[in-house]
Amino acid sequence: MSKPLLEARGISHSFDTLLFSDTNFTLNPSKSAAIVGRSGSGKSTLLHIFSTFLKPNEGQVTLFDDDLYALKDEAIEALRRFEVGIVFQSHYLFKGMTAMQNIEVASMLSEENIDDAILEKLEIKEAMSQKIGELSGGQQQRVSIARVLSKKPRIIFADEPTGNLDKETASLVMDVLLDYVESTGAGLVLVTHDEAMSKRCDTVYVLEDKVLKESK
Ligand SMILES: Nc1ncnc2c1ncn2[C@@H]1O[C@H](COP(=O)(O)OP(=O)(O)OP(=O)(O)O)[C@@H](O)[C@H]1O
Ligand SMILES: [Mg+2]
Repeated sequence: MSKPLLEARGISHSFDTLLFSDTNFTLNPSKSAAIVGRSGSGKSTLLHIFSTFLKPNEGQVTLFDDDLYALKDEAIEALRRFEVGIVFQSHYLFKGMTAMQNIEVASMLSEENIDDAILEKLEIKEAMSQKIGELSGGQQQRVSIARVLSKKPRIIFADEPTGNLDKETASLVMDVLLDYVESTGAGLVLVTHDEAMSKRCDTVYVLEDKVLKESK
């Protein structure tokens, strides 16, 4: 069997209070995992820990082959630029630029080309020349997903990527993410409140009572 893309062992973290302790998580290539749980339970925090942005108080994260938080800053920067795709809960698009310019920035940085088929599938091709400020919340969300995919990441972390979307559009976004995972061997970690979305993943984890448990 191929090696996991991501392996977290014994992760604990607190801000003012303990969010979770002794948390384990594994993601293999071509697999998708959903993380569900109450608001404030620490799902986004866990995603930040898995995705290079937050060193946990305790535990080890192995991303690809590296002990993530033992890496030098430059190595972490390179991971972020070339290998890791992150769809944040609040999508950070450049407001004054068009949708296309936003995507071009990401693909230029990662030296990859934009896949036109993805824009079509996400139904945002017509919106490409519009400024971000002129787009609806759901359109912006889809632009930020296209931007992440245009980097051709080996792993995608998505925090509520379908939060602003109607059922049909949410399902279309999920199709695009899962197709990407299947066709490239990348992994997907999805935080969601939407049961229909979590059920489409290979594994569902629940963050509850400060523990992450596998529920599917
Ligand atoms: N940088 C931070 N500094 C201090 N406290 C934080 C920080 N980030 C998150 N928290 C706190 O940690 C708790 C968990 O936050 P987190 O964003 O991980 O929850 P969540 O499960 O993603 O919730 P939601 O479903 O509402 O997005 C919250 O009480 C939050 O206020
Ligand atoms: Mg969150």
